[in-house]
Amino acid sequence: MKLKVNGQFVNFSEGETILEVASKVGAEIPTLCHDARLNPVGACRSCLVEVEGSRRLVPSCYQKAEDGMEITTENDRIERHRKTLFALYLTDQPETREQAEPHKTNEIFEFAERYEAPQNWGKMENIREDREDRNPYVNFEPETCISCARCVRYCDEIEGVSAITLADRGSKTTISTVDSLSLLDTTCEMCGGCIDVCPTGAMGEKIPLTKNAKHERELEKVRSTCNFCGVGCQLELNVDKEANDGKGQVVKVTSPPVGETTNDGNLCVKGRFAYEFINHEDRLTEPLVRGEDGQFYPTTWENALEVAAKGLLGVAERHGADSLGFVSSSRCTMEENYLVQKLSRAVFKTNNVHQCAAT
Ligand code: SF4
Ligand code: SF4
Ligand code: FES
Repeated sequence: MKLKVNGQFVNFSEGETILEVASKVGAEIPTLCHDARLNPVGACRSCLVEVEGSRRLVPSCYQKAEDGMEITTENDRIERHRKTLFALYLTDQPETREQAEPHKTNEIFEFAERYEAPQNWGKMENIREDREDRNPYVNFEPETCISCARCVRYCDEIEGVSAITLADRGSKTTISTVDSLSLLDTTCEMCGGCIDVCPTGAMGEKIPLTKNAKHERELEKVRSTCNFCGVGCQLELNVDKEANDGKGQVVKVTSPPVGETTNDGNLCVKGRFAYEFINHEDRLTEPLVRGEDGQFYPTTWENALEVAAKGLLGVAERHGADSLGFVSSSRCTMEENYLVQKLSRAVFKTNNVHQCAAT
């Protein structure tokens, strides 16, 4: 099937939305409530485009593409709509951008700047109820919430947990839990996905906030592999390069964008929040070998490996290869686990090799 986007023919398959088809030709359409992993709801109206023959602008994230459609994503009418929409959203946001995004980018301000929305339409009083929550990771700022429900839908459709919900009605609509309980007293798994999908930062991370960390724009993202299990989820370590006496410090962990890696934008509680061990003072930072007195002493990697190899060979010579056993870890990558079994079987000639995830 075929349709036209801004005068250009594009092929598409049944079931694709206008937004998906338009992105194939690089059309830039702002979105707030859209997430490729979630069922579309068409709630925020930021993605409206023109479809030939339709009196109204249509939500491209929701509307399915149809054969022969003629779609326009940029013209005066759409620009007017975007200016008005983001100006209205701004009236229900904090006074300044600094207040509205202490740590994470607030896309309302991004889009308002991009589409040159008027910033002087006044401010509405925030009447959404605040909610105290003693959980250590997820912070909620009702003032910046736009009720797009991405967090709620993520929790429901991806996590299958339904710990949070839209509560109250009209302009009081906010995000809450059953009886406003702390997330710790709900089914919440502390995956932090609600933080990740939130377009405004209303759902935010507590640790960087309490530690007064730099804004994410000033952090460097370093791609890494999570070492908490063998799935191999990809992470982005958000590093403040100047912190820790210039040695650098991980300020938070995020996922690479949806669709790019095996974890598809998702992380679990360990991958997302258990990063403070990286700079923990108890952490080993150099190899140690035991001296004659039984105590550990720092040494070089060459020496440590030589001592280990001699020790293992000595045991094999005295008691036979099967007196050795090799245990690797699900915290290692698949390649590292492969190398451990290779070392065991090919070098030390024993099949006594195991990995904790195998049990
Ligand atoms: S942290 Fe995860 S499980 Fe908890 S409310 Fe957010 S999305 Fe749901
Ligand atoms: S907290 Fe964020 S994701 Fe959830 S409804 Fe509010 S703005 Fe949307
Ligand atoms: S992104 Fe389409 S209506 Fe929100």
